[in-house]
Amino acid sequence: MKSAILRLLKDRRPEFVSGEDICKSLDVTRTAVWKHIQSLREDGYEIEARTNAGYSLVSAPDRLFPGEVLDGLSTKFIGRQVYYYGGVSSTNDLAKDLVQKGADDGSVVLAEEQTGGRGRLGRAWFSPRYKGIWFSLILYPPVGLSAVSQVTMVTAVALALAVRKETGIPVGIKWPNDLLAGGKKLCGILTELGAEMDKVNYLVVGAGINANQERLEFPPEMRETATSLKVELGRSVARAGLLQVMLAEFEHWYQFWLTQGFTAILSKWKEISVSLDCPVHIHTLNKSWEGWAEDVDEDGALMLRLPDGRLQRLVAGDVSIRR
Ligand code: BTN
Repeated sequence: MKSAILRLLKDRRPEFVSGEDICKSLDVTRTAVWKHIQSLREDGYEIEARTNAGYSLVSAPDRLFPGEVLDGLSTKFIGRQVYYYGGVSSTNDLAKDLVQKGADDGSVVLAEEQTGGRGRLGRAWFSPRYKGIWFSLILYPPVGLSAVSQVTMVTAVALALAVRKETGIPVGIKWPNDLLAGGKKLCGILTELGAEMDKVNYLVVGAGINANQERLEFPPEMRETATSLKVELGRSVARAGLLQVMLAEFEHWYQFWLTQGFTAILSKWKEISVSLDCPVHIHTLNKSWEGWAEDVDEDGALMLRLPDGRLQRLVAGDVSIRR
C-alpha cells in the first residue's frame, strides 16, 4: 500500500493529491493514508501536506529502495526481484544464501552498507553507508566452468558502458576487471560460484561502485588509488537511476553473450581496456612480473610478453601500468 501511495504521488507530482482521492483510488482509510505518509517521510521522502489540497511529493531520498530501483526499470529479468538491506556483511554472501532458498534468475541483492564487503584476492572492500552501489546478481547460466570468467568480463563491459552513458566519464577496464576513472579504481567485480563437475549451478556476480564518496572520505591509504563518481564529476549522482542503467546494460550484454557467444564481447572488452598494449607490472600471489601486456584470451587470461621474448599466461593478479 505504501508503494502504491508513493506511485500515486509520483505520477501526479508536483500537483497535490487529496486524501480523499488516495482513499478512493486505493480503497484505504484516511488513517491508513496518514500512517503511510508518515512512514514515507521516515524513509526520507519529503511530502508536503496542505489543508484542502492534500499531499505533494517534494523530493525523494537517494536510497536504493526496491520501489526506486523497479520504478522505470526497463529489464525483462535482471533486477525484477530485488532483495534490499540497510546493512549486511557482504551482498555476495547473502546472495549465496538466497540461492539455497531458490532465488530467481536475475535477482539483485542490494545493500546501503557492507560491514564485511569482500574484494578479489581475499581483500576487504570499503563499502560505507549510502555512498556506493554494493550489489550482487544471482545468475543460473547453462554453461560450464570455463565460461565463468567470461561472465565477469561481460559485467565489466556492461558496467563500463553504463557509467559512460550515465555520467560521461571515460571509464576504462584494467585487467582483470577493474573499472578505472582518471587512473584510479571506481568499481570492482567479484564473481563467485557453485558448481559440480563442469556444470555451473549458480553464479553470484558482485559489483561495488564508488558513487558519492568525497576524496577525504576514503581511508588515507586508498586516496591515491581509489576514486568515486562524485570526485570525478564534482557532483553527487542519483544511485538508483545509475543502477537501473547498469542492470539494463548488463541484461543486454548477458543475453548477447548467451545467444551469440563471447567473441564480440571480448573485442568490446579490449576496446574499453586501458591495460593492453602497454608496459605493465603484475603482482600475483607469489611472484611479480614485468613485461608488455600483449593480449587477453577467451578465458580472460592476460598474455604477458616478457623481456626475454617469451609469452607468459597469467590468470590472476594486480596490474600497474608503467608510464
Ligand atoms: C575487487 O576486489 O575489485 C572486487 C570488489 C567487489 C566488491 C563487491 S561490493 C558487492 C559485492 N559484495 C562483496 O562483498 N563484494 C562485492
